Amino acid sequence: METAWFETRRANWTDAEHLAAAHVDSIRSIGARFYTAEIVDDWCDTLTDDVYVRAMQRGEVFHIAVGTGADMPGVLGFASHRVDGTQHRTAVYVRGAAARRGVGSAVFRSAEAEAIAAGARTIHVAASLAAVEFYRSNGFSEVRRGEHRLRSGRELACVFMRKRLER
Ligand SMILES: CC(C)(COP(=O)(O)OP(=O)(O)OC[C@H]1O[C@@H](n2cnc3c(N)ncnc32)[C@H](O)[C@@H]1OP(=O)(O)O)[C@@H](O)C(=O)NCCC(=O)NCCS
Repeated sequence: METAWFETRRANWTDAEHLAAAHVDSIRSIGARFYTAEIVDDWCDTLTDDVYVRAMQRGEVFHIAVGTGADMPGVLGFASHRVDGTQHRTAVYVRGAAARRGVGSAVFRSAEAEAIAAGARTIHVAASLAAVEFYRSNGFSEVRRGEHRLRSGRELACVFMRKRLER
């Protein structure tokens, strides 16, 4: 029987540095296939450790996947869950070297369980173009296409998607 090569757990503030590193790796390795270099730079620019600490203080929850072997140290990927007004929202990021091995789906399942436990009936995502097929395969459907404005003012093309949750 194959031994699990990663495990998932809820992150805490001591994981902030590793969250930032995985986030930037994901955007630069996978996101960069879909966006210009300027957009990728702007997307990564604001991702310092304190972003995750402040988000956790506001109630955002991060579930991370961590490699069990020596070959893939640190955080392999993560999924977040936060409540924005009345909407439950998520976002999933996985390092390029760990992609297409089930990491994103595993951490998303944890974020989804978090949303269900918080009473959500629907979960939303502003999906980057690098993730639309991933969200579709995890039960989301397209609501509309649009843009997400980065802090720099540049617009990142995205697809607004939603999934109905079963309790
Ligand atoms: C989207 C992302 C998180 C997926 O993570 P992952 O660990 O590779 O996903 P999984 O291995 O769980 O994939 C599950 C299924 O999703 C679909 N999928 C995932 N990546 C895909 C891709 N690049 N193209 C097409 N389908 C894809 C496939 O159906 C896949 O199943 P399969 O590998 O058996 O065919 C990862 O590609 C990523 O980090 N992208 C860049 C960052 C980003 O844009 N995140 C979204 C922010 S809103």
